[in-house]
Amino acid sequence: MKRVEGKVAIITGAASPNGIGFATAKILVREGGKVVLTDVDAEGVAARAAELVEDGGEAVSMKHDVRSESDWADAIALATGAFGRLDILVNNAGIAYALPIEETTLEQHDTMMAVNVGGVFLGCKAAIAQFRAQKGPGAIVNVSSAAGIIGIPRASIYGASKAAVCIMTKCLAAELGSENIRVNSVHPGTIATDLLLGNAAKDPGSSVDLPMPLSRLGEPIDIAAMILFLASDEAKYITGGQYLVDGGLTAI
Ligand SMILES: NC(=O)c1ccc[n+]([C@@H]2O[C@H](COP(=O)([O-])OP(=O)(O)OC[C@H]3O[C@@H](n4cnc5c(N)ncnc54)[C@H](O)[C@@H]3O)[C@@H](O)[C@H]2O)c1
Repeated sequence: MKRVEGKVAIITGAASPNGIGFATAKILVREGGKVVLTDVDAEGVAARAAELVEDGGEAVSMKHDVRSESDWADAIALATGAFGRLDILVNNAGIAYALPIEETTLEQHDTMMAVNVGGVFLGCKAAIAQFRAQKGPGAIVNVSSAAGIIGIPRASIYGASKAAVCIMTKCLAAELGSENIRVNSVHPGTIATDLLLGNAAKDPGSSVDLPMPLSRLGEPIDIAAMILFLASDEAKYITGGQYLVDGGLTAI
């Protein structure tokens, strides 16, 4: 029996070939899952879904801005239309930049909060309604960050957004546990994706250079493996937890 056999998952922010979202999609499909990939990058996410289908997986995709409640309704409808149900939501879409506070505009703050916090809020709201309609269990994995736990220079707004995701996760776990809806957060450290490397290129001395026990960047699969575990029934007694996958970054 595969680890998420027959389970249906929505994964947001899955367009990049070397991002955490697509790595998660690949491992869920490998373990028997059916996936709905979403992203603001419609072309990219369609290409990623096509790759999975070509390899024999079950995958569909749609253009989706996580800030839009009607896009969320469409994403749930796509999951139920294509695969009959929804079992897992991975709130992975996010934006990041490193800026000193005095150079950060209110508009940048508001956009960060709208995507990283508002997007997770709307996703949880939509998925929970669907889980309840199915009278079934459900699993939500929110992708937060090590920056939501420790203070990283120039990451004040990003860190605040990811800390909000962490506490939203715990509140929802407390609210929904009696319905067997589990909600956990995963906290990547520095993972070699376009997001991190793109920011590092613009900002030498950024978080890409932070010291850590394992002395190397993580890979998207490192995060995907944790998401798979939390989404699967192996984690059936786990909710409200915050799971670091950070090479030991926050241990020192
Ligand atoms: N890479 C790291 O080191 C790292 C560390 C900690 C946390 N994270 C988090 O992991 C998640 C995935 O990031 P990644 O590193 O794979 O980068 P990524 O850039 O590959 O993935 C983010 C995706 O989100 C999409 N996106 C942005 N705004 C969106 C919106 N409004 N609606 C829908 N999609 C939107 C982007 O198009 C992109 O495909 C993010 O939430 C990020 O904050 C990453």
